[in-house]
Amino acid sequence: MPTSIARAHTNIALVKYWGKADTDLIIPQTSSLSLTLDQFYTDTAVTFDERLTADQVVVNHHPLSPAASRKVRHVLDLVRHQAQTTAFAQVTSQNHVPTAAGLASSASAFAALAAAASRAAGLTLDRTALSRLARRGSGSATRSIFGGFVEWQAGHDDATSYAVPFQEYVTWPIAMVALVLDPHRKKVSSRQGMQASVTTSPYYPAWRQVVAQDLAAIKPAILAQDFPTVGTILESNAMRMHALTLSAQPAYSYFNGDSLAAMQTVRDLRAAGTACYYTLDAGPNVKVFCQAADLPTITQRFSAQFGADRVLVAHPGPGVQWLSEPLTD
Ligand code: PMV
Repeated sequence: MPTSIARAHTNIALVKYWGKADTDLIIPQTSSLSLTLDQFYTDTAVTFDERLTADQVVVNHHPLSPAASRKVRHVLDLVRHQAQTTAFAQVTSQNHVPTAAGLASSASAFAALAAAASRAAGLTLDRTALSRLARRGSGSATRSIFGGFVEWQAGHDDATSYAVPFQEYVTWPIAMVALVLDPHRKKVSSRQGMQASVTTSPYYPAWRQVVAQDLAAIKPAILAQDFPTVGTILESNAMRMHALTLSAQPAYSYFNGDSLAAMQTVRDLRAAGTACYYTLDAGPNVKVFCQAADLPTITQRFSAQFGADRVLVAHPGPGVQWLSEPLTD
């Protein structure tokens, strides 16, 4: 069967997904809203081949063990079921995202896998169906099918839980500065972490209310390009998500010392008149939401603090696309 290659970009949630209602189908407790980024992406090539005796998954030139490729094989099984084939697949993936460092490489990885695998198996899925398929690999991947601002509507079952574009083509001159403060794999996976929050944090019911309020408030602010309102909401939403880690039993945290220092720098910049706001996911890296005109001030400040090679700049990016060229490093 032919090879299909797809590229998907990662996304950063401005109103976070943190907790599942159904852990098998990955149905979230709440809706969420993200911004797809242009700089961090995954290219994935998939070929189904009757001659293979098992799925083969290679990420950044390294073959994954059967245990490490479990989620990938789960998505391939769903594709095989829909396409009514039993052929195993060769999956080759190049991540242009610091893997598992809280820059959500799983979002771009499973969105690219859904697009490449479905087409390689001869399926023609629309973007809603692709979003549902990507969701089965990783929740945040649900949103990476689309570009710009994207809402994942929680729904209540497999058919109703998918992302929709909120504003796909972003003309607002905004940027996200990603500070790579620790490039290593996170210690508590998002899957484990959010489950611990749902089952043990006494604040979880309050989080559901926070998300509903934040979603209702951030949408008109995005449409109005109201930078301070969007920034204030995304920063407080991230902190309230992380409060669920500290209030879990046993408690844990994704922050390290540099995360706290970077958050303080954002507050200092703000106090000195440069509007910018921070968010963090399931890792120590801090992402700074800012206006493009302030990038020189902000990148200089963080380059002085952490080193220029740790400061990455991204802008709003596109949704999933299929490529005709072979993969490159
Ligand atoms: O998609 P997962 O299972 O890696 O979870 C992502 C969770 C956060 O990145 C912290 C929040 C989000 O909405 O992306």
